[in-house]
Amino acid sequence: MFDARRALLDWYAQYGRDLPWRRHPTPYRVLLSEIMLQQTQVDRIVPYFEAFVERFPTLADLAAAETHEVIRLWGGLGYNRRAVQLRNLARIVMEQYGGELPQDRHALLALPGVGPYTAGALLSIAFAHDEPAMDTNVRRVVGRYAFGESVSPSELERAARDFVPPGRAGEWNQALMDLGSSICLSRQPHCLICPLQTGCRGKGRVLDGETARGASPKTPYLRSTRYYRGRLLAQLRFLPADTVVPLSVVAERLGQYGVAEPPDGWERVGSDLARDGLARIETRADSVTIGLA
Ligand code: ADE
Repeated sequence: MFDARRALLDWYAQYGRDLPWRRHPTPYRVLLSEIMLQQTQVDRIVPYFEAFVERFPTLADLAAAETHEVIRLWGGLGYNRRAVQLRNLARIVMEQYGGELPQDRHALLALPGVGPYTAGALLSIAFAHDEPAMDTNVRRVVGRYAFGESVSPSELERAARDFVPPGRAGEWNQALMDLGSSICLSRQPHCLICPLQTGCRGKGRVLDGETARGASPKTPYLRSTRYYRGRLLAQLRFLPADTVVPLSVVAERLGQYGVAEPPDGWERVGSDLARDGLARIETRADSVTIGLA
């Protein structure tokens, strides 16, 4: 009888990616990697991960960090709110849990920036609980393997939970992630080299809806809010700590770099960054100044 769990765990032992948080999967390092991996690809985050843990080796160090420090270290990863949220999470864990991340799904879900996927990843990878961690890749792999057709989220969740090999959930979930990002690809699965091909109900097929690219964004990235926020923040990172400069100067510099004026102006972008706790913006008479929070 084909043993899918053994097949995938053996494949992972041989082909799983060597990543810094996998070598030392402490709760803090797993948390940091998972937050960085939200919306960003594995290869891109590795150097940021290493710089971050070097500067903030523990949750306590991160809790003590200033906002501008975490924004600088987050560098060009994008979605900078994640960095500030993570520092805020560290402060909550110091205050409410004596500096130890809780090992309970509900408690984890109450922390800023932690959703069901991240909670599952922490519980399984950092705490060895028999929990699934369902991201897009894992959903696709489990859906194809167990059903071979589109099923409801609850059916998928139940199958994923039943699939977890007791005592090895951390490896298992990361094996599913690696399989989904290297072999069981959404548009073009490489079934002939897949360790799960023998038992797979979806072998050789792409399920309905899987090839659709996610909803296409209305605004191209180059004119998106995220783009303008990223450009402005990239300039502010060059400023020494606790320094503000006239927004007009930053806007002029951005123009020299070929960044067009945003539709609602730079002040609006700056105010949005300030609202999210990333920047500080001050208006005096007719001059507006801006710096990192
Ligand atoms: N994507 C999100 N978390 C991951 C992990 N721990 N390993 C590989 N890919 C991931």
